[in-house]
Amino acid sequence: MLSFVAVAKTSDIRQGRGKAFTVRGKRIAVFNVDDENFYALDNACAHALGPLGRGRVRNGAVICPVHSYAYNVTDGSCLTDERLRVRSYEVVVENDEIKVKC
Ligand code: FES
Repeated sequence: MLSFVAVAKTSDIRQGRGKAFTVRGKRIAVFNVDDENFYALDNACAHALGPLGRGRVRNGAVICPVHSYAYNVTDGSCLTDERLRVRSYEVVVENDEIKVKC
């Protein structure tokens, strides 16, 4: 059964960056778009498993640090190759705590 799991404080992730966490055995990358909106995707890039959590976020997309494929942080769709997608996870922020549903 899916439920929200606290993974980090909002201050743990710099604006425009991401960070990967192990949540219930999955590697999930959480992104800070603008200090108010946070999103979560599978950390492994659908192209060749690059670490999306180390990518930078620009205009609502995270850029994979390996070959620069871009993913929409809100839904995990790949903007570089429309056949690719990574899983997205629901996120809530409560009292500066980021929680991911998984
Ligand atoms: S591994 Fe992410 S773009 Fe190639």
